[in-house]
Amino acid sequence: MAKVPTFSLIVLLFLAISLPTNSQEFSTKVPKRELQRSERLIRLRFFLRESIRGDAPSALVVAQAPTTPTYRYNFGRVLVFDDPLTEGPNLSSRAVGRAQGLSTYADVRETGLLMVYNYFFTEGRYNDSTLQVMGRNAPRSDVRDLSVLSGTGRLRGARGYVRLRAYSVDIQRGYFVDEHLVFLILP
Ligand SMILES: *[C@@H]1O[C@H](CO)[C@@H](O)[C@H](O)[C@H]1NC(C)=O
Ligand SMILES: *[C@@H]1O[C@H](CO)[C@@H](O)[C@H](O)[C@H]1NC(C)=O
Repeated sequence: MAKVPTFSLIVLLFLAISLPTNSQEFSTKVPKRELQRSERLIRLRFFLRESIRGDAPSALVVAQAPTTPTYRYNFGRVLVFDDPLTEGPNLSSRAVGRAQGLSTYADVRETGLLMVYNYFFTEGRYNDSTLQVMGRNAPRSDVRDLSVLSGTGRLRGARGYVRLRAYSVDIQRGYFVDEHLVFLILP
């Protein structure tokens, strides 16, 4: 007797997850998935420094539309960056890698960036490994989450997200420092 209700419950859960409903709800909760035995959770923390002026800026404007200046929030501007990553917020602290990729001003109504980039690690356990990141970065938010889509090397197949926080801005010297907290599931 005990097996019947259990089975029904599983069927119900399955139907709840897999069938579209007529409900107007935009989202519904799905039961938590357990980690597989072989999966590991990893957290990385480091700081990114981007300089936009000076002798060797780490970010360059490479393209924009002729009409970009008519938009208030730089809509259509594209930057390429190769920003140093360090263990601490100071540039003099240990270098752990680079963030290399593109930022596109992709929002008409506020400063909102589409970011597509790699973390390329050059130190420690993850030396020579990379992570592929994509997401929206709106600097007006204190905290911004971007998706980690995958990884290579020792981080092959990793997925998760990066949480960015502004750490400091130096308008005089033209650079900013962000804290990056990366949360990963490694298969
Ligand atoms: C960062 O470096 C500067 C000098 O380069 C030093 O004055 C400051 O204390 C350092 N900050 C940290 C958090 O290590
Ligand atoms: C990282 O890997 C590169 C290439 O394999 C190697 O040249 C370098 O010495 C390594 N660095 C560290 C700190 O292990």
